[in-house]
Amino acid sequence: MRAFQVHHGKQIDGLTLISKPDITDLDSHEVKVRIRAVSLNYRDLMITQGIYPAKADHGIIPASDFAGEVIAVGSSVTRFQTGDRVMASFFPDWLEGELTLDKVTRCYGGDSDGVLREEIALPESGLVKIPSHLDYISASTLPCAGVTAWNSIFESTKLQPGSTVLVLGTGGVSIMALLLAKAAGHKVFITSSSNAKLEQARTLGADATINYIDQPEWQEAVLDLTQGKGVDLVLEVGGKETVQRSLTATGTGGTMAIIGGVSGFTGTLDPISLLFGAKQAKGIFVGSRAMLESLSRFTEINNIKPVIDEVFSFDQVPQAYEYMAAGKHFGKVVIKLD
Ligand SMILES: NC(=O)c1ccc[n+]([C@@H]2O[C@H](COP(=O)([O-])OP(=O)(O)OC[C@H]3O[C@@H](n4cnc5c(N)ncnc54)[C@H](OP(=O)(O)O)[C@@H]3O)[C@@H](O)[C@H]2O)c1
Repeated sequence: MRAFQVHHGKQIDGLTLISKPDITDLDSHEVKVRIRAVSLNYRDLMITQGIYPAKADHGIIPASDFAGEVIAVGSSVTRFQTGDRVMASFFPDWLEGELTLDKVTRCYGGDSDGVLREEIALPESGLVKIPSHLDYISASTLPCAGVTAWNSIFESTKLQPGSTVLVLGTGGVSIMALLLAKAAGHKVFITSSSNAKLEQARTLGADATINYIDQPEWQEAVLDLTQGKGVDLVLEVGGKETVQRSLTATGTGGTMAIIGGVSGFTGTLDPISLLFGAKQAKGIFVGSRAMLESLSRFTEINNIKPVIDEVFSFDQVPQAYEYMAAGKHFGKVVIKLD
């Protein structure tokens, strides 16, 4: 079978097409999946740049998120059969409940092989059926970006309908969060460097938009929009440049979900701005299989379709990475396998 290989820190040029042995044997609890679509995440770019914390010193198959078709099952598999459409949970060992270290030690495409390949064999416990309203391309975006947004909005806070949610930028996590938060009845504010992207966000239901280049002190605009109160939840994906601003924009008793660092994974927080207002800063680490199942049900009931910006073929994997690195995308970038 064909697969891609990445070396930590060898940039996008270091992505190479390789040949791996076909999967001929399955353990009794394993499912063999023909991969149909793989979505890219910011993490996949970080690996090419050598800045992802979990590093392998050898080449690995990149990427964590796929959707595909079951083409064989092991003798003791009970949850799936040939022909089922499935996706894999980001952490194969975090099935449900609270996060513990042992549940998040293993994941795909970080320091071990991932999913940018034609076929994969995985334990059935890590797989989830694709909701009926989604095709493979859309479903491939749920395991990381989708679950991260779900965890932030539905699991890590106690929002009531009509709560205020701030999302930063128009990448994969933020646009999924916009869709989910609107479906849950919240008011959503969004920032972007691009007025055209902000216009697109409005068509998806964003209640207010802020250009963070034109308004570098955008937290003040958020305070204005909330009559000085601040929002109930911020999905903080910006890091260095945004984290203190996000905290300032968080209201009394509100939550800043710490998710990422597209402007750098450092930054400083003034403890006083957490203390006054009894705000909480909550680290989000994707989520469990149970969260992926809840997200799938929610998207199906509400007919939510992830926003796909661009689809590339398997031969165009380096171009897909380049496209994402250029930051022109709105929502998700996906690779389709024939
Ligand atoms: N903790 C977790 O479990 C988890 C899970 C998934 C992702 N993440 C992290 O979350 C972050 C976003 O991931 P993603 O896959 O959604 O990335 P992405 O699709 O590449 O989106 C990045 C977007 O961030 C926006 N951006 C860039 N610089 C910004 C700034 N200074 N202020 C505000 N927005 C800025 C840009 O939006 P505009 O073009 O609109 O300006 C850009 O399109 C990454 O750091 C990633 O590592 C963490």
